[in-house]
Amino acid sequence: MRNLRLPALTRNLLKFACLLALPIFTGGWGMDGKMSTIHVDGPVARTQLDVFMVTLWVTGFIFICVASVLAYATIKFRARSSADEHAEPPPQGHGNPLVEISLIVASVLMLVIIAVPTLKAIWTTYDIPEMDQKDAVNIKATGNQWWFKFEYDEFKQKLPGGRIALRTKDVIHSFWLPKLAGKVDMIPNRGNHLWLKADKTGYYWGQCAEFCGESHGLMRFRAIVLSKEEFKKWTEREGELAHSPSSDAAASAPAENPDRPKVEFASVRGQTYASFDGDMFENWKELQQPAVHEDAALIAKGRQTFMQKGCISCHTVRGHEGVGIVGPELTHVASRTTIAAGVLDNTPENLKQWVLHPNVVKPGNHMYYGTLMPGYMRQGENGWETNFTVNETEADALVAYLHSLR
Ligand code: CUA
Repeated sequence: MRNLRLPALTRNLLKFACLLALPIFTGGWGMDGKMSTIHVDGPVARTQLDVFMVTLWVTGFIFICVASVLAYATIKFRARSSADEHAEPPPQGHGNPLVEISLIVASVLMLVIIAVPTLKAIWTTYDIPEMDQKDAVNIKATGNQWWFKFEYDEFKQKLPGGRIALRTKDVIHSFWLPKLAGKVDMIPNRGNHLWLKADKTGYYWGQCAEFCGESHGLMRFRAIVLSKEEFKKWTEREGELAHSPSSDAAASAPAENPDRPKVEFASVRGQTYASFDGDMFENWKELQQPAVHEDAALIAKGRQTFMQKGCISCHTVRGHEGVGIVGPELTHVASRTTIAAGVLDNTPENLKQWVLHPNVVKPGNHMYYGTLMPGYMRQGENGWETNFTVNETEADALVAYLHSLR
């Protein structure tokens, strides 16, 4: 290789090409992940992907043209000896009018190629097509630091025509369901909206896509797409009041399915995050079934703790004592696949960690710092604590109560 002396630019281009080829030899591009914008499952996301592809091809074409001319000029006119380096520059002209005009025309043409599908996509993604309107569900999504609240027309007021109304309670958030639609910002004092449709039923992963504070990266959500009948069943179940175990329920092991996929934890800078490796859609379906075993005594104790620790002032549990609206509604919390806004798999162990150490799971969250009395933390036996800090026994009871709420 010693004799082969390639110009620096050629060497660098070769290195760049090798770098690009690397993922192909190491298992593909990894473009089909849970949050993929390339493997999409709905018409809105597909329209957005089409605009991306048009832009990619046009800009790719421009890149190849400019890079080829640059490479050609660099190689052809490079200094071949030290005499060349000190030679007079060639005669300077003002340019070639024909080349300049052609470049302007070509640029305008390429802008038009990008602009036409972009404008079309803006209209398509803005409003739901008429043919889909009659089956559309209206949803109001509200961004909170750091969780999403969803309200359905089936329970609340009528919203106009098959849309997801996007609102925020505090700062700017962004609603993003990569495989279905997004991103659209949730802006204070401004009503935004989007619509979406999925090709098939399933479990879709979403994430806040606008920096909104300490735990922005931990502000996630899921969309569970159901058939019409299943959706109707779900809304009926969600509309029911909170479950209370019958007093003669057998005192046995807490409801837990041993077949549920185990969640792997990875430690990132001292924090634990679940990797959600199981089939989450199957998980969800399973969680819609009533619990089999219930420890009525422990559940009653948990319900009491829920009151005494002030949880009721921030969380609603319809039919029970909870009336707060600051935090997520918990009437059917046990039927959700995740807790802490999509950060943890909803298992008893995780829920316990969440109520014991909320600030470890989600730094800066209001369940830890409180919303009404800033600076009310105190030094306790085991470090800093708040009025909401619970001990192991209280946490076990709380978990039993919350996991009875299916
Ligand atoms: Cu909400 Cu980032």
